[in-house]
Amino acid sequence: METMTVNSLDSATVVRWMQHCAETYQQHKDELTALDAAIGDADHGANMARGFTAVQGKLDGLKDKDIGAIFKGVAMTLISTVGGASGPLYGTFFLQAASGANGKTSLTQEEVAADFAAGLKGLMSRGKAVVGEKTMVDALVPALDALKPVANDTLAAALDRAIAAARKGADSTVPMVAKKGRASYLGERSAGHMDPGCLSSVLLLEALKQALPSG
Ligand SMILES: Nc1ncnc2c1ncn2[C@@H]1O[C@H](COP(=O)(O)OP(=O)(O)O)[C@@H](O)[C@H]1O
Ligand SMILES: [Mg+2]
Repeated sequence: METMTVNSLDSATVVRWMQHCAETYQQHKDELTALDAAIGDADHGANMARGFTAVQGKLDGLKDKDIGAIFKGVAMTLISTVGGASGPLYGTFFLQAASGANGKTSLTQEEVAADFAAGLKGLMSRGKAVVGEKTMVDALVPALDALKPVANDTLAAALDRAIAAARKGADSTVPMVAKKGRASYLGERSAGHMDPGCLSSVLLLEALKQALPSG
């Protein structure tokens, strides 16, 4: 039997992705909160868990829709249920990613990379953050760069590269002094801790990898 090669993303996989997100943010709630307790207000775990649990509750109504509509539903739910900065930021990511996925029930690997790049562009213009300011942008920029297709690529292989790049980006935030978000109020005292939003971004990508039919 041939091994199945996954190089597209369909609606059913997106729905599974969102289910995995709800699970992973519950599982990692305390870890995310501990990171946010060090340099923020100790609510990032609760914010992400609340947001994606609410998303999970919307999936029955979204599962038969195209990917654009699912992303839009995810975006609206995150924006309306997450009190912290991360809700509007991840919400904007999904809202901007939705535009390229309108009417589509399957995205090629090229389309996934392009839609996520559009999502990140929206997130960055909303948060006004660039690489090096100790935010989720430090994980997402290298990750989405690594997601771009190479020769003989699969979406699974690209996601493995993206996850590794996101982890490396997350680690790079440890010595940084925060320039954006709540952690920036601490100034020099923000150095020595990983940015919590970087870990939630790593988990977002890992949940997508888990949702792929090949596992
Ligand atoms: N302007 C910004 N641009 C990008 N990411 C940001 C920005 N501000 C905050 N973040 C991200 O949001 C995370 C904090 O999210 P959360 O704790 O849920 O919200 P809040 O900071 O409002 O309590 C940070 O770790 C950082 O990654
Ligand atoms: Mg917080």
